[in-house]
Amino acid sequence: MVLIDGKAVAAQIKKEIAEEVVLIKEAGGKTPHLAAVLVGHDGGSETYVAAKVRTCEEVGFKSSLIHYEDDVKEEELLACVERLNNDTDVDGFIVQLPLPKHISEQKIIEAIDYRKDVDGFHPVNVGRMSIGLPCFVSATPAGILELIKRYGIETKGKHCVVLGRSNIVGKPMAALMMQKACPGDCTVTVCHSRSQNLKEMCLSADIIIAALGVPEFLKADMVKEGVVVIDVGTTRVPGASTKSGFKLTGDVKFDEVSPKCSYITPVPGGVGPMTIISLMRNTLLAGKKAICK
Ligand code: GUN
Repeated sequence: MVLIDGKAVAAQIKKEIAEEVVLIKEAGGKTPHLAAVLVGHDGGSETYVAAKVRTCEEVGFKSSLIHYEDDVKEEELLACVERLNNDTDVDGFIVQLPLPKHISEQKIIEAIDYRKDVDGFHPVNVGRMSIGLPCFVSATPAGILELIKRYGIETKGKHCVVLGRSNIVGKPMAALMMQKACPGDCTVTVCHSRSQNLKEMCLSADIIIAALGVPEFLKADMVKEGVVVIDVGTTRVPGASTKSGFKLTGDVKFDEVSPKCSYITPVPGGVGPMTIISLMRNTLLAGKKAICK
């Protein structure tokens, strides 16, 4: 069994991006610039955005943080998006989700110029991704593809079962794994909370991507020998042994499933560390205007 070390791969890619930024700057090119819009004081969102800004500094990007209070009006936020769309110094930007209830997330996402949508949430990017055109792929699916690629995991002709049908993981993951590409070329089955034969599907899977958000859902009797398991779950469950009082728990019962696997991602330290790095890669692409010429 090979434990997929997302932390090490993310560190390696971070180094590669930083080296490329040095070359861009030495050649007199523009420093890639990511802007992040944060609304309110949700602890999780503040932590994520701070980590994104810090990683920008570490790889040599310019970053800007625009922070609004919870009571910001939707029109103000739309005006901010419009300003960022038109700011030629900003290569890409994100609006951290979730937003307060009085603001339509979809309206905000659709207002972003898809050429600057480094989160890959705009319908144009989602559509381009699903038909295999150059686009910004959202961070978690992009990170998973990169792990599969860097570990040389064979996907061609394999049966890939995606557990979960969310817009930001399950659906794009299924589209990418069926794509005529490498990684890709899989026969894909998507299972979700209403699926009736989920266990049988999992038992026939060569690759399982678990993104249900149900802690320790996937058990040993649901997988075959030699399966590749990618665990996207990150549920905080009470755990007395940690300082915070919480333990980050994946969708896979790791101790019993891992002995049957050829490859498996741990939680934490698997998919998680790849997500911010994927955002950095998208920002680098945005800086190079590599998506839509
Ligand atoms: N909230 C949780 N994950 C994300 C993400 O990847 N992008 C944005 N914009 N908000 C998030």
